Formats: sequence, structure tokens, C-alpha cells
Amino acid sequence: MPTLLASGRDADVFALDGHRVLRRSRDGRSPAVEAEVMRHVAGLGLPVPRVYSVDGPDLVMERLHGPSLLGAALAGEVTAEETGRIMADLQGRLHALPAPGGGGVLLHLDLHPDNVVLTATGPVLIDWTNARQGEADLDVALSALILAQVALAGTFPGPVAALAGEGLGAFLSHTRGDPVRLLDAAVELRAGDPNLAPEEERVLAAAAEAVRGRASA
Ligand SMILES: Nc1ncnc2c1ncn2[C@@H]1O[C@H](COP(=O)(O)OP(=O)(O)O)[C@@H](O)[C@H]1O
Ligand SMILES: [Mg+2]
Repeated sequence: MPTLLASGRDADVFALDGHRVLRRSRDGRSPAVEAEVMRHVAGLGLPVPRVYSVDGPDLVMERLHGPSLLGAALAGEVTAEETGRIMADLQGRLHALPAPGGGGVLLHLDLHPDNVVLTATGPVLIDWTNARQGEADLDVALSALILAQVALAGTFPGPVAALAGEGLGAFLSHTRGDPVRLLDAAVELRAGDPNLAPEEERVLAAAAEAVRGRASA
């Protein structure tokens, strides 16, 4: 009997055994596109879980062992500076890859510290549901915006909000992209996310202003 490992905003993740998990979107959506993206970037050397199979709403992939980057930072095992640097590094590596079909750049569009797992062999990027092609700066703006929202929303525990605020500064100092150029588009994307909590929605404009202010500081 598979055991429930985690219930995120989008999906339930079950352990099948020590080596495999099953991720099932609660809305029944097919993970075929994200599986294809994961296979593509894995083949180019990006650290992502290995995909084993897709069946209806189910994605069976390699089970990762280790804390999330968020968990490790909250436990004091990783600094906020390292948190921002690891995010910027994974994102920069993704954006440097050739996209399938050769056009545009592959974007993750949900790259934050709870979607990075720190394994024995290094950080691995998970949760590829939103991945698509586009302009790299949109991904950069979105990651900065997510951190700013968590820092400002007031609904996250104090240490999480503090980490997000500090991590934002580090992320902005390490990213090779422009976090402001497509910030308005990132706000629009975020505003249309049905998983956004009301408090996160309320601080969206302030979060965008915080990214603008800190990017130019
Ligand atoms: N390959 C994996 N190995 C181990 N745990 C995983 C794996 N993929 C996801 N998880 C766990 O399930 C949680 C939710 O998965 P995720 O893909 O991030 O979906 P959501 O959109 O719900 O955040 C993750 O935060 C992580 O704890
Ligand atoms: Mg997630």
C-alpha cells in the first residue's frame, strides 16, 4: 500500500518503495508535458528526479532523499545566502540549456526553496508542473516575487518570512537575469494562480514593489 509522503498545494505524493514516488495532481491533469520536460533537462545534465512512467494523472519518478532547501535553511543547515545562491544557480543552469525544438528557453515558473531537495549528490529541482518555454527573466521575476510574497504575507511563521526576505536579497545578488524587466507579467501570472492564498494575493503589489526596490538597491 503506497504511503502518503506529502500533500502539496497541487498534488499528493506517495512513496511506492525506497526508490520511487508517485505524484498525482489533484485536478486529474496529465503530467505528460512535465514528464517530457523533466526527461529533456535530465538528459542535459540538470539535477531533476528521473522519470519512470506516466499513466493518466500519475507520474512515477525517482524518490529523492533529503530535506527541502527550505527545511534545511530553517534548521540552520544552510544559510539564507546559500539558499538564494542555490536557487539562482539552478535557475541559471536551466536557462542555459537548449529548449526542446530549439526555440526559446525552458522556464520552471515555480522555483522556490520548497521545490528544491538537498540530496547527498546535491540540490535537485522538483515540481515541474508549470514548466514551459518563454523568456528567462520571467522565471527570475517570479522566483523573486514568490520570496517577497512569503516575506510580506504575515501568514507564514516568522522564521520562514525572515528566511524569504534574506533569501530574496541573496537571490537578487546571484541571479544572472533581470528580476524587474518582466515583473508585471510575473505579477499577472501569480494573480491568476488558483492556489494563491488570499493573504499572498493581498500583498502581491507590495511584493512587486519590494522586488523593484531591492533590485535597484
Ligand atoms: N521525487 C520526489 N522524491 C521525494 N519527495 C518528493 C518528490 N517529489 C515531490 N516530493 C515531495 O512532495 C512534495 C510535493 O511535491 P511537489 O511536486 O512540490 O508538488 P506541489 O505542487 O504540491 O508543491 C514536495 O515538497 C516533496 O516533499
Ligand atoms: Mg512544490
